Amino acid sequence: MCFVVNYLIYVSQARPALDQADLDSILSTSRAYNTEKDITGMLLFVAGRDGKRGSFMQLLEGSAEELEALRKRIFADPRHHTKLVLEKGTKPQRDFADWSMAFRSVVAGDLAAHAGFADIGTEAFQQRCEAGEVHRSLAFMCDFWSSDAEA
Ligand SMILES: Cc1cc2nc3c(=O)[nH]c(=O)nc-3n(C[C@H](O)[C@H](O)[C@H](O)COP(=O)(O)O)c2cc1C
Repeated sequence: MCFVVNYLIYVSQARPALDQADLDSILSTSRAYNTEKDITGMLLFVAGRDGKRGSFMQLLEGSAEELEALRKRIFADPRHHTKLVLEKGTKPQRDFADWSMAFRSVVAGDLAAHAGFADIGTEAFQQRCEAGEVHRSLAFMCDFWSSDAEA
């Protein structure tokens, strides 16, 4: 099989009080920059509940060099912290070829049907990430996007 695209998936914790204006700003920057650099992907924001901060999960697709340059920019951004790369590698094709950055904002309950990812943003999930026990995040992002798009 011929592998043509690099990808990277990470999770992070949003800074406290991150609001819709922050999300709008992140998305407009992303869509301009990613289009220019031929990067595609999906950003998932899980809103915090009961005063807890939200979480991000993001899939980036593109050339290895551009992904690493973008990862450094994103990881230096004070709007989130505790960033952890879950998965990186190559795959045969882009799953989000039409999206400079697809976006979904959900509450944790919306993830309940997705075993293993229901608890994104919790300390338990973070510990499982650090222990390398979170797999299949690429399949999760794609399944989540297509199931949600159908709803
Ligand atoms: C969760 C999250 C995801 C982001 N995703 C992207 C992205 O896909 N593309 C992008 O250009 N910037 C993205 N950003 C914004 C960058 O972190 C950064 O603010 C932007 O690239 C401008 O960088 P500069 O201030 O160094 O010029 C993201 C920020 C956050 C918090």
